Amino acid sequence: MTKKSDDDGHKAGLKPDTHLSIGGRDPFAHHGYVNTPVYHASTLLYRTAEEYVAHRGRYQYGRRGTPTSEALETALREIEGPACAGVALLPSGLAAISTALLAVLRAGDHVLVTDSVYGPTRRFCDTVLVRFGIATTYYDPLVGAGIAALMQANTRAVFVESPGSLSFEMQDVPAIAAAVHDRGALVLMDNTWASPLYFRALDKGVDLSIQSGTKYIGGHSDVMLGAIAANAALWPQLREMIFTSGLCVGPDDMYLGLRGLRTMGVRLARHQQSGLTIARWLQARPEVLHVLHPALPNHPGHALWSRDYSGACGLFSIVFKPVRQEAVYAFLNALGLYGMGASWGGYESLAIPFDCTSSRSATKWAPGGPCIRFHIGLEDVGDLTADLERGFAALAVAS
Ligand SMILES: Cc1ncc(COP(=O)(O)O)c(C=O)c1O
Repeated sequence: MTKKSDDDGHKAGLKPDTHLSIGGRDPFAHHGYVNTPVYHASTLLYRTAEEYVAHRGRYQYGRRGTPTSEALETALREIEGPACAGVALLPSGLAAISTALLAVLRAGDHVLVTDSVYGPTRRFCDTVLVRFGIATTYYDPLVGAGIAALMQANTRAVFVESPGSLSFEMQDVPAIAAAVHDRGALVLMDNTWASPLYFRALDKGVDLSIQSGTKYIGGHSDVMLGAIAANAALWPQLREMIFTSGLCVGPDDMYLGLRGLRTMGVRLARHQQSGLTIARWLQARPEVLHVLHPALPNHPGHALWSRDYSGACGLFSIVFKPVRQEAVYAFLNALGLYGMGASWGGYESLAIPFDCTSSRSATKWAPGGPCIRFHIGLEDVGDLTADLERGFAALAVAS
């Protein structure tokens, strides 16, 4: 667990790619080795009884932080920007979401959650928060400043996720934040899609910004990780929540996070470039009704994306023109380079079918045809489109 230190002055004004390279590293504290060692640690010994009783020293116990956790937290804090007062690490993105909610809510509170939210976040609200007497209302992701009208006297927090990770509605986060803060409530955001490299959530009025580090931070589909970045007002409360509930991450997982982070800038740029190339290619296909990618000019959220975001990752969806579900499965089954599986953000491409109908309560999901979500990986983009050609051939046969 780290906070801003006084010696960070020389880092002011550095660009995100530089922070990704230098963040959280202090080679000469480790014999000159470039990377911070992986501390496998629980017990920490004190030299004297007096030191033990006073808990003197920089570290106290493995759960409460090691040089390894500090390195990752510091690196993440630096890419979140100066508005970030501290970053907490969690064992998964979902754990980061549930912990952020529990850190700010109490019995009797009300929380507003976007209807486009990641499914397991909805499940946490509907099954766990409800047991603690916390009520959830889902709202239209396009509500913008209209969120004010949905707030109740006991609304303590508003949860945003922009864009939705299946349906890709863009939210007006600054407008929501202004309305929510006016009424004394807090804004929590799942910022996994853009990451702080492409959307500086804390600068846009978000109080707690959450990332599933499992995605682009890890980047190799081999680690589960989560992070919550807090502004100065909420950091003490979040830090206390993490310490008192005993949450911590295994050292090797933190190392994989650190290792992934160093190349996240170049990977994201490539995911973005290939993702857009393939999104445009799909847009020109006669079988495709819509491509749901906020960086495409005809996406309904494009103006918000252009105003607030500096990039896009490799995740987007398409809507087929009406066709039998069997034909969609034939399309997917014919693909050789796109895996079918949960999660995203690794180096490999993925394609999965989805239907949001049963997970909507404030809005109606009626895209006009069956849907597929793509994650575009780091493979050659020509090979990826050639593979899609095979999918479309199989779709035609099965239609
Ligand atoms: C948008 C979004 N948020 C959070 C998560 C949860 O992250 P994790 O799988 O690390 O728990 C996911 C996972 O797919 C996700 O897509």
